[in-house]
Amino acid sequence: MTQFYGKTRICYGRYALETLEEQHCTNAFLVTDPFMVKSGLADQVTSHLERIGLPYRVFSDVEPDPSLETVKRGTEEFIRAGSDLLVALGGGSSIDTGKAIAFFARKAMPDRQKPVLVAIPTTSGTGSEVTAYSVVTDKERGVKIPLIDDSILPDLAILDARFTRTVPPSVTAATGMDVLTHALEAYTCRYNNAFTDILAVQAIHYVFGYLFKSYQHMEDMEAREMMLLGSCMAGMAFNNSGLGLTHSMAHALGGLFHVSHGLANAVLLPYVIRFNVFDAGVRYRELARVLGLPHANVEEGVSALISAVQGLNDSMKIPSRVRDLKIDKAKYDAALDDMARHAMDDRCTAGNPRRPSLQDLRELFETAW
Ligand SMILES: NC(=O)c1ccc[n+]([C@@H]2O[C@H](COP(=O)([O-])OP(=O)(O)OC[C@H]3O[C@@H](n4cnc5c(N)ncnc54)[C@H](O)[C@@H]3O)[C@@H](O)[C@H]2O)c1
Ligand SMILES: [Fe+2]
Repeated sequence: MTQFYGKTRICYGRYALETLEEQHCTNAFLVTDPFMVKSGLADQVTSHLERIGLPYRVFSDVEPDPSLETVKRGTEEFIRAGSDLLVALGGGSSIDTGKAIAFFARKAMPDRQKPVLVAIPTTSGTGSEVTAYSVVTDKERGVKIPLIDDSILPDLAILDARFTRTVPPSVTAATGMDVLTHALEAYTCRYNNAFTDILAVQAIHYVFGYLFKSYQHMEDMEAREMMLLGSCMAGMAFNNSGLGLTHSMAHALGGLFHVSHGLANAVLLPYVIRFNVFDAGVRYRELARVLGLPHANVEEGVSALISAVQGLNDSMKIPSRVRDLKIDKAKYDAALDDMARHAMDDRCTAGNPRRPSLQDLRELFETAW
């Protein structure tokens, strides 16, 4: 049997935020990061809660690549607040933290009613608003731990591109390449299906059509809107299909060297496409075809796709090698075995079209240097 599952209600566009006022809850808990509070974006959410007289608490300690400690503190505060509505506002880090808080609070208090989980993404991005994933970092061991559980799928995702308008160009570039990596890896994943393919292909169209525009012109709201939709579609796709080696390797690299998730994916993606060519060449060629790139045969299609990905990276000043990510060479070399092992153990590796050996992974990290 093949299935596609997506329980999240998705509201998008101009008045989407007003759906917050439809929540019949008694007490809200907002999970966000310091920028959202300082910039006033959090007020745009809380003003809707105030309008319906819903009391709320704000937990705004989320850092990029949220740590286990932050999740633990947030969970304690959430339990103390006794909230039945959890709103996560921010990039993947805030949404993942909100989902992890909901998960651990339920484990600690199984008798308490499950809170309504609302996700409002401010990056385009992780697609976390529609996925059952939450990635938390164990800073002591330098590893990213994915929590995967259908109970953390948000009940409601609110997509309002006005929240993404302030994303600076470098973050727009990195998070946008995360969208592309989700879509490409979903499309070539061992567990893809007809529904994930459609969503992945549409997300890839949006990325090639609108990512560079939103990088170049922060105020281009049409581009921002399309990237937000693409991010969500790619999230729906990979939540059902799974991902691949780019993500496994990016988790390993990011866990040890604090490279942002999207940037790590962007740099590694062309190397992984090349690595997968014998097993997924036909699929890559198909993507080259739908993108209108040369695709007379598999080789030409794959090369054209890699050039297009690389060209997008270049246009947004994303380096083509790990060595340009301000990583110390000696430390990188010393970490090769650990990174290869972490990538091998990562849940995303199972979906990759080509089965890698530990040695393959080590060599891929070396080649990408
Ligand atoms: N749950 C999933 O399915 C999933 C998928 C991929 C990645 N992830 C995880 O998500 C995290 C990355 O999330 P992200 O890439 O969205 O970045 P992020 O949430 O870490 O945010 C990156 C930076 O951008 C800032 N920012 C966010 N929105 C902004 C806005 N509107 N204006 C100005 N600045 C803004 C944040 O304050 C932060 O400093 C990583 O931990 C990654 O592992 C999760
Ligand atoms: Fe990702």
